[in-house]
Amino acid sequence: MKTVITGGAGFIGCNLAAHAMRAGDQVVVLDNLARPGAAANAQWLATLGGDLSVIHADVRDYQAVRAAVRDAYAARGWAPPTFLDAPPSAGARRIR
Ligand SMILES: NC(=O)c1ccc[n+]([C@@H]2O[C@H](COP(=O)([O-])OP(=O)(O)OC[C@H]3O[C@@H](n4cnc5c(N)ncnc54)[C@H](O)[C@@H]3O)[C@@H](O)[C@H]2O)c1
Repeated sequence: MKTVITGGAGFIGCNLAAHAMRAGDQVVVLDNLARPGAAANAQWLATLGGDLSVIHADVRDYQAVRAAVRDAYAARGWAPPTFLDAPPSAGARRIR
């Protein structure tokens, strides 16, 4: 099950990503790595051995977000501001 987490390299996002990976999800983290420590968080996630992709992009980049959420089961937004309007055609279910 593919789960996309924007801001996934932040405090909340990386813990959510770790939890989802441990649960067996395919996790896609989309983060612009602007927060100090975000890159280190992404590296930590990579050490957990789960199914992880990290996309270095801004949530305001429509094409990047659209590509990330394609075929996703869920998209969770933890990048401030916490919004994500996944295009319906991308097939993702907005849950937050
Ligand atoms: N941590 C808390 O206790 C708490 C409580 C209430 C609300 N919140 C809200 O939840 C959200 C996440 O909190 P957090 O503590 O994980 O913050 P955080 O700063 O640790 O994480 C945010 C992540 O989003 C990324 N980011 C920022 N702007 C981005 C953009 N334009 N595109 C892509 N990525 C971007 C950052 O690089 C960072 O990795 C925030 O909006 C925060 O205000 C947090």
